[in-house]
Amino acid sequence: MGYKRVLVKFSGEALSGNSGFGIDVKILEYIAGEIRTLVDNGVEVGIVIGGGNIIRGVSAAQGGIIRRTSGDYMGMLATVINAVAMQEALEYLGVDVRVQSAIEIKEVCESYIYRRAIRHLEKGRVVVFGSGTGNPFFTTDSAATLRAVEIGADVIIKATKVDGVYDKDPHKFSDAKMLESIS
Ligand code: GTP
Repeated sequence: MGYKRVLVKFSGEALSGNSGFGIDVKILEYIAGEIRTLVDNGVEVGIVIGGGNIIRGVSAAQGGIIRRTSGDYMGMLATVINAVAMQEALEYLGVDVRVQSAIEIKEVCESYIYRRAIRHLEKGRVVVFGSGTGNPFFTTDSAATLRAVEIGADVIIKATKVDGVYDKDPHKFSDAKMLESIS
């Protein structure tokens, strides 16, 4: 593969299939299968999943009743639900996996401990990082970048709805240009 360690990021919506909400187990299994291919090729894999299939902080706060900070914490909890689901699917396919959460929820999963995450990866286990960065006002893309740097990933693979990085949203702007390379 050319990479020793990677960080895979995908949105929560990717798990929801056509319904746009919740978790479609067939899609969950498909994505877990793709991750297994990486593991089978000797790649160490960290995963960050968004939570938008359950709740988004920004949207929850739109009506002015739920404050943005609380909305973001709700969104972080949503990412833990997705992380636990991914853990189940990977284990179902025979892949060793651990979930670590930036917010301590110790009855549900391990807490994020950088050195422990590294050990899991070295042992060939997938580590799913839940709760984003653990802070409101940050996206799970920021969490993916942070964890990627922390674990020394060679690359961040972002599975998304478009085929590359654009100067603006290609779904909204027909003149959006794909950037071939960025610093
Ligand atoms: P090694 O230390 O390399 O053997 O890793 P390990 O993860 O198998 O060992 P450990 O005994 O720490 O964990 C055993 C299981 O308990 C794993 O599935 C962990 O994810 C889980 N686990 C460990 N710590 C916690 C925790 O604080 N909360 C929860 N819910 N599970 C935990």
